[in-house]
Amino acid sequence: MNKTLLLILLLGSPFSFAEKPQQAGIASAHPLATAAGHEMLAQGGNAFDAAIAISATLAVVEQQSSGIGGGGFWLLHRAQDGKNIMIDGRETAPAAAHRDMYLDENGDVNRDLMLYGPMAAAIPGEIAGFAHIADHYGKLPLKQSLQPAIRAAEDGFKVYPRLVKHINNKQKVLARYPSSKAIYLPQGQPLKVGDILVQKDLAETLKRVAEKGPEGFYEGETAEKLVAAVKANGGIWTLDDLKNYQVKERAVITTNYQGQQLITAPPPSSGGIALATMLNILQPWDLATMAQADRVHLVTEAMRRAYRDRSLYLGDPDFVSIPTQRLTHPYYAAGLRAAINPDKALPSEYLPGVGDSPKGENTTHFSVIDAEGNLVAATLTVNTGLASGFIAEGTGVLLNNEMDDFSAKRGVPNAYGLTGGEANQIEAGKRPLSSMTPTFVVGDDGVAVLGTPGGSRIITMVMLGILDYFDGHDVKSWVTKPRYHHQYLPDALSSEKGTFDADTLKALKAKGHTVKVYDGQWGNMHAVHWDKKTGEVNAASDPRTETGSAVVK
Ligand code: DON
Repeated sequence: MNKTLLLILLLGSPFSFAEKPQQAGIASAHPLATAAGHEMLAQGGNAFDAAIAISATLAVVEQQSSGIGGGGFWLLHRAQDGKNIMIDGRETAPAAAHRDMYLDENGDVNRDLMLYGPMAAAIPGEIAGFAHIADHYGKLPLKQSLQPAIRAAEDGFKVYPRLVKHINNKQKVLARYPSSKAIYLPQGQPLKVGDILVQKDLAETLKRVAEKGPEGFYEGETAEKLVAAVKANGGIWTLDDLKNYQVKERAVITTNYQGQQLITAPPPSSGGIALATMLNILQPWDLATMAQADRVHLVTEAMRRAYRDRSLYLGDPDFVSIPTQRLTHPYYAAGLRAAINPDKALPSEYLPGVGDSPKGENTTHFSVIDAEGNLVAATLTVNTGLASGFIAEGTGVLLNNEMDDFSAKRGVPNAYGLTGGEANQIEAGKRPLSSMTPTFVVGDDGVAVLGTPGGSRIITMVMLGILDYFDGHDVKSWVTKPRYHHQYLPDALSSEKGTFDADTLKALKAKGHTVKVYDGQWGNMHAVHWDKKTGEVNAASDPRTETGSAVVK
């Protein structure tokens, strides 16, 4: 026998799982999306076909969170050869974008321009992502995997409270544009819970993609309508911007924690690197046996340091050189750990180098494990709830406001209170830095697939879910557990209500933390777990929102 082959047989590949799960599990933010995924599996598709159907259906029924006018990251594991890869369908800045495009004559950032209307929108990547996944990983044609989404757009779906809340919040912006008004404010009034929302234009746009592939969106009728609508409303997109959009395959970030392997999102997401830094810092500590205040203190100090590095070093890897190896190296983490005082918080301003984030459900995450052991963790977004508020006339496409994920000016916080510098400044064709962190945790005994929306808090929410997994809790617990967060600046430890008891709060304050407890709830986590010992698959959806849907078949 060939020596290399023998070696592989003896050692096995750390990436390939020998067994297959006995069931398929899907957890997403809406029952129609979860059902669309299972429909593809029943038609002979794999997890990747399911991911396209789920993403496309969410683009119809959960537009406050993601859509074909936006983009995202799909983390894939292919069971057959053990390949792990991230499909980067992140939006790109149009060619006419430049560093100072949102500064007014006084040099102040024009927040309205950066968040609302077509100037806020980067070139969408979602459809290019679908096509790439179908061509390279799926078994079914797009024509088939887009059917459930087309159905949902044509037949309509029942409007639910979370969508109504976002429409109410964005009513003034939506009312600026007749095309947005027609969908969300019919007869001048916001949609109500129980109304049926039919989206004929969106159905036609999806059908063009089903027929023609990505050219049905990036060229021809759809592209012309998109550009005409953007221009008529003061935007800067061109037909070339759409035609030149390119989806990218990115090598994943891998790191080890407590003997298991983490596979997670590389740049232009900041999530994987920050997660690796934080877990490397925490590695030697026995968090499970610590008093809550001691544990939260150490986890918070790890968060603070990883988020400082985020604002200093991270951006689109096609534009800036990122010291990934250093930031994810255990020795680098050891240096950071050595400077953590177990009894005292370090003010962020004492860290060498460089504002409150809203709660997070305006992005979407779903997790899939199929019966073959293929995995998908996908986090997709249009950025803030209902995005730019601008539907391009005649297309049904709600455009993203992802330009706000760039740093418009050094030190000026974005919608999530994140600040940044040169690495994430606006440049033509560049991808804005993201926090979206779709992640797999792979061990001998099982596989976890998880992620969540939540702006800057995504990374810490994913880490808290992972720590809960390592504490031995089940998938329901990962998505339910109360959440806390630190992002370097603003220098505050924030939490959901009820996360800490009075004694812990007191102890954290005594260690020097400024603790801010928020009324609202954060995130919308959807996770799947495959227990390799029993072959069982379990899925769970965040109880914080009403439409989560976790189904194992
Ligand atoms: O890519 C990012 O990091 C953001 N655009 C995600 C936005 C988000 O999670 C909104 N939910 N609160």
